[in-house]
Amino acid sequence: MTNLHPLSALLQAHRSIRSYRKDPVDDALVDATLAEALHGSSSSGNLNLVSVIKTRDPARKARLHELHFRQEMVLQAPLVLTFCADTFRTRQWLAARQARLGFADLISWHVSAFDAIILAQTTALALEAQGLGICYMGTTLHAMGEIADFLECPENCLPVTSMVVGWPDEAPAQRDRLPARAWIHNERYQRPTSEDIDAHFGERERRGWERYRSMGPQIMQRMAEHGITHLAQFYTSRIKYDPDIFARDSEQLLELMRSRSFLAPTPSRPGPGEQDGPRNPPLA
Ligand SMILES: Cc1cc2nc3c(=O)[nH]c(=O)nc-3n(C[C@H](O)[C@H](O)[C@H](O)COP(=O)(O)O)c2cc1C
Repeated sequence: MTNLHPLSALLQAHRSIRSYRKDPVDDALVDATLAEALHGSSSSGNLNLVSVIKTRDPARKARLHELHFRQEMVLQAPLVLTFCADTFRTRQWLAARQARLGFADLISWHVSAFDAIILAQTTALALEAQGLGICYMGTTLHAMGEIADFLECPENCLPVTSMVVGWPDEAPAQRDRLPARAWIHNERYQRPTSEDIDAHFGERERRGWERYRSMGPQIMQRMAEHGITHLAQFYTSRIKYDPDIFARDSEQLLELMRSRSFLAPTPSRPGPGEQDGPRNPPLA
């Protein structure tokens, strides 16, 4: 038997958990884990452009449950973490110190969203290392404005992802991933041929379809009602990632970024002795 590195063992043990025991998750443990995760995450400019909002109150979780498209795990898990891209606090700091205002533009949206996502994944690993289970909720992106309002996020602060956290009450099988040859490239991007597509997705199609079939006749009946005979059709059907809904919610996201001051750069003058536009590498 080979000696597995503890991190490799942790990564191999990862499963999204959607069923939780009632046992509470200690608040001090969560805060300590979050603090450790932030230390263990790279952060653009080390500005830590992120806020994490914990929701434990059952009444408030019930509202989040609605906003997360009634995903049952929100009610069941004792804790929901909402990771927000946040330049608000940093802008407050800049203003308090009479520095040039910044971080209210598309780049800053990306940078703060990356900070939030990087922290979320480090947190996920750190929680899993303690035997806790997590499951991300992409529904955050489709109810971003309502979740932001509910959590009383200020301007320049928007939720980018959420996860439920708790003690697992299930041990699901490991889910497959695309084979390495499908997505790891040497030197240049290698466009897949149609044979490559067959090779890359064949196993996924077989296993994915089998997985849905094993969930009982209801889901297969819904698939049939929507004329779905193949896994690929399912992904962009009305019952999964509907492109029309994505287009609509993308417009909403743009509007939200405008209304929450992520796309409204404050006109600002260069500081004393500075030229317009940074052309030197930023100091780390
Ligand atoms: C950004 C993101 C959003 C996700 N959203 C949901 C979700 O809304 N509901 C859900 O049940 N799982 C969600 N998941 C979990 C994925 O379905 C899961 O990671 C994937 O199927 C692979 O399974 P595994 O995590 O068990 O390996 C999400 C995962 C990510 C990374």
